[in-house]
Amino acid sequence: MKCRVIAVLGTRPEAIKLALVIDQLRRRSDEFDTAVIHTGQHRTMLDNALQLFKIKPDFDLDVMRPNQTLNSLTVRVLDTVENACRRFEPNMMLVQGDTTTAFASALAAYYSKIPVGHVEAGLRSHDIYNPFPEEANRRCVSVLTGIHFAPTALSRDKLLAEGVPNEQIVVTGNTVVDTLRALSNAPHSWENTPLQNIPTEGYRLILVTSHRRESLGADQEHMCLALKDLVAKHPDIRVIYPVHMNPNVRSTVNAILENTERIHLTEPLDYITFVSLLKKCFLVLTDSGGIQEEAPTFGKPVLVLRRVTERPEASMFGMSKIIGMSRESIVNETSALLTNQDTYLDMSEGDNPYGDGRASERIVEAVSRWFQGKTPLLDASQEFKLPPRSEQRRRKTDSVEIPVAAAAKAGGH
Ligand code: UD1
Ligand code: UDP
Repeated sequence: MKCRVIAVLGTRPEAIKLALVIDQLRRRSDEFDTAVIHTGQHRTMLDNALQLFKIKPDFDLDVMRPNQTLNSLTVRVLDTVENACRRFEPNMMLVQGDTTTAFASALAAYYSKIPVGHVEAGLRSHDIYNPFPEEANRRCVSVLTGIHFAPTALSRDKLLAEGVPNEQIVVTGNTVVDTLRALSNAPHSWENTPLQNIPTEGYRLILVTSHRRESLGADQEHMCLALKDLVAKHPDIRVIYPVHMNPNVRSTVNAILENTERIHLTEPLDYITFVSLLKKCFLVLTDSGGIQEEAPTFGKPVLVLRRVTERPEASMFGMSKIIGMSRESIVNETSALLTNQDTYLDMSEGDNPYGDGRASERIVEAVSRWFQGKTPLLDASQEFKLPPRSEQRRRKTDSVEIPVAAAAKAGGH
C-alpha cells in the first residue's frame, strides 16, 4: 500500500521550501501518492515559484483577498483544506514553517485525525508578538504535529525543552538550502527583469527586503529614512529593494523612497533573479526568515531588521547581526560594514549553518520509515550536522553574548 501524502503551501517561502520535498516524494512514486494543496494565501508572489519548480497544485483554494485579515484568512483556509483532505484521504499532511496557511491547515488535519509532519519545526523567538503572528503560529503547529522536521540541533533542543519526545524529531537541515543548491548555478541574466536598467558597474549593491507585520508603520518609516541617510553618506552604493506586495508595506515604502537617487524600488523578483541578486550584492538588510537562511550560502553578511530572531545560528557564527529597526543603528551598522574591510570579511566567511542540501531527502526517508512503522525515523548518523567550518566559528564566538539577548538589551530602537 502506498503512503498518501498531502503537502500544503500558500505563500512564496512555503513553495520555495517545499519544492524539493514534493519533488522527492514524486520521484518515489512507487511508495508515495502525493497531492499538493495551494491555499492561494499568496497569488502572484507564489505562482512564479510554482511555475519555476513545475508544481501543479491538485487543489487551488484561492483564499487570498486584498489586505486580508488574519481571522478571515484563517477561517477560509480551515474550511477549504478540510474539503481537500476529505477528497484525497491522506495518511499524512506536510506543512511548512509558520504562516497562517501552515497553522490553519495543521489544525484542519488534526480535527480530521490526519497526522501532521511539520517542516522547519522548533524555531522559537520566545516572544509571541515578534514575529507576529508567526511565533504563535509555529508553536500551535508543534502541538498538532506528529513528526517534527527540525532544521538544526538548536531547533530540536527547543522542541525537547517543550516536552516533544525525541523519537518524534528528525534534524534535517533547512530545505531552502536544497533549493538554493539546485538552482544557484542556473545561468541568468537580468534582461527583461525589473533589474535590467539598474547601473551596477562601480557600485556596491545593498539588497533590502522587509514585510513583517510587527514592523509596519513607525519601524518601517525609520528603516526607509535610514536607507535615505545611507545613500547620502556613501556615494558608491545603490540600494535595490524588491517591495513586498502587502499594501501596508507598499504605502510607507513608496511614500518615503520613491524617486530617491540610487534607491531602486522594484516589484517582487522571480526566485532565480532574486538569487542572482543575492549573489551579486555586497550585503543584505532584511527582516525575512528565508533570506537570513540563504545569504550565508553566498557569504553575504546579513543585518537583520528585527529585535529578535528565531534563526540565531548565523549570528551565533558571526555571519549576521540583529540590529533592530532604529534609524541610527541601521545607518551605523551598515556604514561599519561599508567602511571596515576586516568587519566585512569576518562576517562573510563560513559555511551555511542552516543546511547541507539534503534536507528534503531526509524528510521523505523519515516519512517512508514512519509509514512502515520503523524506528528510529532516521538513524542519528544520517541527521544534519553543522559543517566543520561553522563549528570553528562557533568556538571563535563562544564568548560572545547570544544575539537574542543582545538585541533585547539594545531595545531595538
Ligand atoms: C505572509 C505570512 C508571513 C510570511 C510572508 C512571506 C502569515 C500571517 N504571514 O505574510 O509569515 O513571512 O507571507 O512573504 O501567514 N498580496 C498580494 N499578492 C500576493 C501576496 C500578497 O497582493 O501574491 C497582498 C494582499 O493584499 C494580501 C497582503 O499582501 O492581503 C498580505 O498577504 P498575507 O499573506 O496576509 O501576509 P504577508 O504579509 O504576505
Ligand atoms: N524572494 C524572492 N523574490 C523576492 C524576495 C524574496 O524570490 O523579491 C525569496 C527569497 O529568496 C526567500 C523567500 O522569497 O527564499 C523569502 O520570502 P519572504 O521574505 O517573503 O518570507 P519569509 O522567509 O520571511 O517568511
